[in-house]
Amino acid sequence: MQYENLIVQEENGIITITINREKALNALNMQTMRELGFFFRQDAPGRPAFKGVILTGAGDKAFVAGADIKEFLGLSSGQGREMSQFGQDVFAAIEAFPRPVVAAVNGFALGGGCELAMACHLRVASENARFGQPEVNLGIIPGYGGTQRLIQYIGKGKAMELLLTGDMLDAQDALRLGLVNHVLPQGELMGKARALIEKIAAKGPIAIAKAIETVNAYFRHDEDGFAREVAEFGHTTGTEDFKEGAAAFIEKRKAAFRGV
Ligand code: COA
Repeated sequence: MQYENLIVQEENGIITITINREKALNALNMQTMRELGFFFRQDAPGRPAFKGVILTGAGDKAFVAGADIKEFLGLSSGQGREMSQFGQDVFAAIEAFPRPVVAAVNGFALGGGCELAMACHLRVASENARFGQPEVNLGIIPGYGGTQRLIQYIGKGKAMELLLTGDMLDAQDALRLGLVNHVLPQGELMGKARALIEKIAAKGPIAIAKAIETVNAYFRHDEDGFAREVAEFGHTTGTEDFKEGAAAFIEKRKAAFRGV
């Protein structure tokens, strides 16, 4: 597969993936999701040993501002379920990846962007980073694991607030709540991500792979929640409210939801 929306560069055994759709604030359209899936499931396992992966977004405004809302128009309930399942599978491959995957969150990490960052093993954030799950503004719920992983990181109470209000957390609040590991000035972000991977690379690689596997095992009883998310994401994508929410975003106006 040719990468169109990802820049994949390897330097000193560290692979940096830059999501390169700066004009759309690096929104995850389906092509980008397919490329991420291809990298973690096919490309990376076939490469000679490397130390780890850094995921970041092009520019200094956004890591990823969500799934691409422009592709949402006309999405049926069935297509919503398929999209959610595909996205969950791609992000599960990141979470289960046997070498460290660090999100270098260089700005907005909203919706699918917050979900992508949460699927990574570690998160470093620039001071201008913002985290949130604003899907309710569009009349849908998160579909790429956000309802499940946000609880894992920040607990039910705060996760519920963010999921219901669509509010954003700034970098310092994300640090305080345990959503990110470190906050740095933008210029120091990539250096910190690389330093973390270098530190981990000095340890036994089997131990690292097994530590990742074992930590993930703690949450496996939550798998029903992921299945429920697929079903409910599909449900919300079948509503008139969702058509209205997506259209309102694109037309830059306030959505008028009718509850149908
Ligand atoms: N999907 C598609 N396009 C997106 C996008 C998304 N998730 N997020 C931003 N963009 C596009 C905007 O449509 C705009 O494109 P245009 O120049 O063709 O109009 C461009 O990126 C810049 O965004 P804009 O909204 O003008 O920037 P801003 O600084 O005013 O606001 C955000 C930044 C992140 C607060 C705002 O873009 C936003 O709320 N994005 C959607 C977040 C979201 O709901 N994500 C969850 C999706 S499930």
